Amino acid sequence: MASSALICDTEQWKGLQAHVGEIQKTHLRHLMHDVERCKAMTAEYEGIYLDYSRQRATGETMEKLFKLAEAAKLKEKIEKMFRGDKINSTENRSVLHVALRAPRDEVINSNRVNVVPEVWGVKDKIKQFSETFRSGSWVGATGKALTNVVSVGIGGSFLGPLFVHAALQTDPEAAESAKGRQLRFLANVDPVDVARSIKDLDPETTLVVVVSKTFTTAETMLNARTLKEWIVSSLGPDAVAKHMIAVSTNLELVEKFGIDPKNAFAFWDWVGGRYSVCSAVGVLPLSLQYGFPIVQKFLEGAASIDKHFRSSSFEKNIPVLLGLLSVWNVSFLGYPARAILPYSQALEKFAPHIQQLSMESNGKGVSIDGVQLPFESGEIDFGEPGTNGQHSFYQLIHQGRVIPCDFIGVVKSQQPVYLKGEIVSNHDELMSNFFAQPDALAYGKTPEQLHSEKVPEHLIPHKTFQGNRPSLSLLLPSLSAYEIGQLLAIYEHRIAVQGFLWGINSFDQWGVELGKSLASQVRKSLHASRVEGKPVLGFNSSTTSLLTRYLA
Ligand code: F6P
Repeated sequence: MASSALICDTEQWKGLQAHVGEIQKTHLRHLMHDVERCKAMTAEYEGIYLDYSRQRATGETMEKLFKLAEAAKLKEKIEKMFRGDKINSTENRSVLHVALRAPRDEVINSNRVNVVPEVWGVKDKIKQFSETFRSGSWVGATGKALTNVVSVGIGGSFLGPLFVHAALQTDPEAAESAKGRQLRFLANVDPVDVARSIKDLDPETTLVVVVSKTFTTAETMLNARTLKEWIVSSLGPDAVAKHMIAVSTNLELVEKFGIDPKNAFAFWDWVGGRYSVCSAVGVLPLSLQYGFPIVQKFLEGAASIDKHFRSSSFEKNIPVLLGLLSVWNVSFLGYPARAILPYSQALEKFAPHIQQLSMESNGKGVSIDGVQLPFESGEIDFGEPGTNGQHSFYQLIHQGRVIPCDFIGVVKSQQPVYLKGEIVSNHDELMSNFFAQPDALAYGKTPEQLHSEKVPEHLIPHKTFQGNRPSLSLLLPSLSAYEIGQLLAIYEHRIAVQGFLWGINSFDQWGVELGKSLASQVRKSLHASRVEGKPVLGFNSSTTSLLTRYLA
């Protein structure tokens, strides 16, 4: 396939399109009878078990998808990423989040320079700083040790760290090492979020970490100035040196803001915002809360999946299989959405993180060469932990629209509870639903079954479940820092695989720019009206009326 050609013009894409008709004739109820098929549609790595037998796919589908991967040069593209080639071509950047978790002795080049020593330089600095901070030797302006951290950042500078924090805080080992400390996040520029983030905190014992790749994001900078004022008004201007630190690629702007460069932690333009949780963006606040050794385990988990992704054959490669199946569901079966359903409350912030990771990466209209795509890329991600989701939106998934589901379960709970007299433990109760839901979706319930249960005739249509609704099950052995890192990397690579197959650039995000520049015009107009009493000018009639009403 020529580099500028579109994947949808290949024989392999057309072969899959033709194959859809075959699949439409099948029902998961029948496909699930084939024991050999079910056994074949599994993969395992370090105890992580993937079962994709409830996808609307057969061995033939998988063969065709592997051929599509060949046509898309998937292997070469993965290799280019790990090699540090500038695959983010619209920004002329390498894509090297894998270097953030690479072992110390690995060599990964960007611009012919091995970046691994630099990465470890920052990690060593974080380790040292977090030890000083946690030991109480780092004291604030009034001589008190700091026990509270507010991490100010948005998008990729917020969602990944929040997901990991939420997952770690219920882990007994991590919770023990976080005793007496608080980590909070401030993302939204909404003053309500500012108030919530500092509620009941004393500036005397609080450290603010400003996290921004660019150090120009309007919301983050206003929030950073707001918390700076909170500190200065209570402790005086010199307090900034002890109460504010930063994470950024733009150390010049960090200094201009008034944060001592010694207290700034760098990362690099080859780390995309939404791929940055393994950089100082996540590693610093999480190390302050939990200690560096626990965060290092999280990084090692992610690194183990990097190895698996780079070296395993596609047939047994979990991120590749997931990526191929997503492309199959979106581009061939026509299912545009995906539900992310962790049966683990600890993963409550996983779906919000994947929303950004996936939709900012793959929601594109043109190929990497700028050619308009004649098909839709990207996937609409949403989700909620089970069983909560079952009592919320599962009705639609069972009897309304078809939405492929990712069921994520954990064998060993972080918090085992077994109430005397109950027939199962709380975790078994949770997992009973994890095992039941995929079959309910796949098999459904027929009118014949309902008749045999003597369901009144008028209720038969309402109680019928058509079934044939695809899902996959991902079972993790436990949910320690290591597995949290593995889960993160599985999804990061899956999303990259989707982008590689669609032939798009999953690593830029031009789509967020237009809204930002229009907001800047509105900001200027609000200022001119409020401060100089000028009328609202330069907007269409709808926006003018809305603004006038707001200002009045
Ligand atoms: O929303 C656009 C975006 O650029 C994201 O990609 C990024 O994660 C977020 O804004 C925050 O950017 P920064 O870390 O530069 O403040």
